[in-house]
Amino acid sequence: MASVDGATRRGGGDGSSRRRRVLVFPLPFQGHINPMLQLAGALHGRRGGGGGELSVTVLHTRFNAIDPSRYPELAFAEVPDGIPPDVAANGNIVDIIVALNVAMDGGESSPSFRDVLASVVAADDEGRKPRASCLIIDGNLMAAQKAAAELGLPTLVLRTGSAACLRCYLAYPALLQKGYLPPKESQLYEPVEELPPLRVRDLYYTSNANQELVRKVLGWIAETARNSNGVVINTFDELEPAELERIQRELDGDGVAIVLAAGPLHKLSPMNAGGSLHLRPDRSCIEWLDTQATGSVLYVSFGSLASLDSNEFLEVAWGLESSGQPFLWVVRPDLVKGLDKPSLPDGFERAVEGRGKVIKWAPQQEVLAHHAVGGFWTHSGWNSMLESVSEGVPMICKPQFADQMLNTRYLEAVWAVGFELVGKLERGEIKKAIKRLMVEKEGAEIRERAKELKKKMDQCLESSGSSQIAINRLVNYIISL
Ligand code: UDX
Repeated sequence: MASVDGATRRGGGDGSSRRRRVLVFPLPFQGHINPMLQLAGALHGRRGGGGGELSVTVLHTRFNAIDPSRYPELAFAEVPDGIPPDVAANGNIVDIIVALNVAMDGGESSPSFRDVLASVVAADDEGRKPRASCLIIDGNLMAAQKAAAELGLPTLVLRTGSAACLRCYLAYPALLQKGYLPPKESQLYEPVEELPPLRVRDLYYTSNANQELVRKVLGWIAETARNSNGVVINTFDELEPAELERIQRELDGDGVAIVLAAGPLHKLSPMNAGGSLHLRPDRSCIEWLDTQATGSVLYVSFGSLASLDSNEFLEVAWGLESSGQPFLWVVRPDLVKGLDKPSLPDGFERAVEGRGKVIKWAPQQEVLAHHAVGGFWTHSGWNSMLESVSEGVPMICKPQFADQMLNTRYLEAVWAVGFELVGKLERGEIKKAIKRLMVEKEGAEIRERAKELKKKMDQCLESSGSSQIAINRLVNYIISL
């Protein structure tokens, strides 16, 4: 596969003296592991324009450990995470990010993260493996960047969210100073003038989180991006041109060498990195989709972390039932707060027989690519949104936390490929939203726009498209280090 900047997949030729090993280190959560493994897949075996070839070693924690046997192409090394058992058991993502960074930054664990990183790098130096040229970290892993700097190892950052999200995080201290946050009830729909089209309600804010910690983590994220050699964003040029330009300008000023829109990564990796940490995708849903009419099925999934309370769960179930529309619904064992295994309400299965299917985990990318799927009800996690955009599937959004409100705002106000289900989850409103997307004229128009957006994405993925150019630039840059 020859391509623009000269980087190619593995082929003949020499350049063995310029073989390089890239270390990658994802944040240990599904929505962060998937894109990092996809990036690993996109880099592994790539050859640079001037020769040289890349191989990848994945660093992973014991917490939410990745199963190396599923990715035989890649090498793996476990690093100590130092997350206290009570913090791990609690599952709060902000607490875990803080604990992980504190432990890596001179925590008590023995050997320390820095020692293990040094030994992974040194093992490479003994000549058995190519030299490690850089560490690509998740944007939340500031302490890993510090450890790498102490070893003289350059770092690049993978941003697993949108460019708009990174812009918002970079601007967070200014937003706080200007009094946008914490959000006041009376100002929720007021515009954030510095970040159009965002309104106050779209900014990152979780009322029940420790605000001090959130501020600290968002500060780390900005600092990590600014201190890196390069930032890779899982988005594409045509989706967020203005946001990318602003970030490019801002990070240029900080001395960041490259800022690349190299997504959607799941379309650029030959390796399937879409599985679950804990669950097997239930492939019976594909056979079931085969029996459904084209464009008729609503796929419903709230990602890997979002949850519902028991009443919301009932409303979703009966809303799906009363819509009369075929649906495929992912009910994870931990979807309902406080329950290990949610039970569907009495009479539900009989009422939706033949028309509704419930599974624990879906092969989501395959589901979204299936001809029977005509809509996606999502929590607006960035991976889910990109995967839906990639298949031209329009969305109903019910965001919950983190970047999900911001993602929803762009989806509705900029790309116009879906809409938000606003307010309390209530079966009548759910039925209306499903009809609006799947049956009504407005839904057909949204669908048309989703198809147009998919075409733009397809162009970015062509061999001379912007995302391929970005990956090639990344390969050449890594080999040059
Ligand atoms: C988390 C945060 O909630 C989100 O705001 C942030 O943007 C990313 O991290 P998560 O809940 O994991 O997101 O959602 P998402 O980003 O959509 O990632 C979920 C991944 O799991 C997707 O790649 C999706 O394909 C996959 N998935 C989900 C499945 O393969 N099967 C399923 O049944 C559900």
